[in-house]
Amino acid sequence: MELFGINIFNREQEVAISIADNAGGISQENIDAIFEPYFSTKGKNGTGLGLYMSQMIMQKQFHTKIDVKSTNYGSIFTIVVPKKLA
Ligand SMILES: Nc1ncnc2c1ncn2[C@@H]1O[C@H](COP(=O)(O)OP(=O)(O)OP(=O)(O)O)[C@@H](O)[C@H]1O
Ligand SMILES: [Mg+2]
Repeated sequence: MELFGINIFNREQEVAISIADNAGGISQENIDAIFEPYFSTKGKNGTGLGLYMSQMIMQKQFHTKIDVKSTNYGSIFTIVVPKKLA
């Protein structure tokens, strides 16, 4: 079994998509800030807008939130998209 990659779960009412990486995870002190606009640990290589915009899309379009889990091995981001808009 791969410990990283993309999984798609086609459920009756929704599709869940999880993206797992092996990039060493997100530190406890940073994890609460990653969805904040302009928060980045990449210096001039990061705008800090990627996750903020992704979260906004999920909230505004689907009234749901991106779930993130992190270990020392890597991170898993999961989005759940309803098949029908409420
Ligand atoms: N898969 C990941 N593994 C570890 N840290 C991450 C991961 N994704 C995001 N982060 C952390 O969250 C921060 C914010 O991420 P976000 O995608 O919003 O901005 P960015 O990647 O820094 O810049 P950009 O949006 O321009 O790609 C990153 O700088 C990094 O510290
Ligand atoms: Mg990014």
